Amino acid sequence: MSDQRSPEARAAGPADPQDLHRQAATLEQDAAAAVAAAADKKALEAVRVRFLGKKGTLTGLLKQMGRVPAAERRVIGGRINTLKQQLQETIEARRGAIDRARLRRAMADEVVDVTLPGRRRPGGSLHPLTHAFRRIEDIFGAAGYEVVSGPEIEDDHHNFEALNIPAHHPARAMHDTLYLDNGLLLRTHTSPVQIRVMAERSPPIRIICPGRVYRKDELDASHSPMFHQVEGLVVDEGVAFADLKGTVVDFVRRFFERDLGVRFRPSYFPFTEPSAEVDVQCVHCGGAGCGACGRTGWTEVMGCGMVHRNVLEMAGVDAERNTGFAFGFGVDRFATLFFGIDNMRHLFDNDLRFLGQFA
Ligand code: PHE
Repeated sequence: MSDQRSPEARAAGPADPQDLHRQAATLEQDAAAAVAAAADKKALEAVRVRFLGKKGTLTGLLKQMGRVPAAERRVIGGRINTLKQQLQETIEARRGAIDRARLRRAMADEVVDVTLPGRRRPGGSLHPLTHAFRRIEDIFGAAGYEVVSGPEIEDDHHNFEALNIPAHHPARAMHDTLYLDNGLLLRTHTSPVQIRVMAERSPPIRIICPGRVYRKDELDASHSPMFHQVEGLVVDEGVAFADLKGTVVDFVRRFFERDLGVRFRPSYFPFTEPSAEVDVQCVHCGGAGCGACGRTGWTEVMGCGMVHRNVLEMAGVDAERNTGFAFGFGVDRFATLFFGIDNMRHLFDNDLRFLGQFA
């Protein structure tokens, strides 16, 4: 029988089967420990190469088989082959375990607790004055009024003279005007916009002018050095006090969304004749009398009247053909009444806990 062993095997002489058994036992232990210690697939692959690769320990063991005397070869060869198979299986099993562990970790990391309360995104809200301005503009807009604005820095002519308030007129004292160094002033009411519009256009005129006005007042529950007004002006042929009355009553009821009583008291403004002040039934007590209305049941909300002939003429309106009415009211007042705000200061404090209530 010819010698089938490799030249190296033949050269190295016979191997000691006992020694091979010992090597196999050590290898079995080492391999089991190494596989168990492999924490990820890369480490596991390194273990596989170390034992089962071309130059691996187990492969080396198999190579020595040729030098084992034929009688012993079956036993030791069988043992090493079984070892190889087992090792392959443990490595596969370990690979599966690593995969499953990674999946478990990923699932734990991405877990969503659907019972957690949601997190609200802070959202802005409209200032109560903005709400009031929008309501006012909507109501008059629907009635065909155009919204017009004018400068907050005015001259004496538009704020006073052209409104029939000449120098030394006692009405000037009521206005507590803030003057600028250059002789101009901060408008004390929105009425100067009436003048600007009448000077620029010819009748029919049907406008409202919302805006800021300024007076030398201290800030308290019902005063502020800066507040807001809306002026209204209608000039056309045949405009009568009855039109003014109907317009004001209709507006007030639409604004407060209630059939509130409205009354007109004779009053005085240099730029209207006749003039009136408008009271509405107290929105808090409905007219019965309470702390908010000083037990009278009424709240004063606006000034109005028929545009004075002098004013029409000074603005260049043909006063033979046209008549007009005008009104002016405080928006801060309307806003606080509508929302039941007890102190005007809240409008200017910019406290978000307050402002956030007026979504
Ligand atoms: N301008 C007046 C004020 O500020 C209000 C008003 C406007 C009165 C128009 C009559 C007509 O008090």
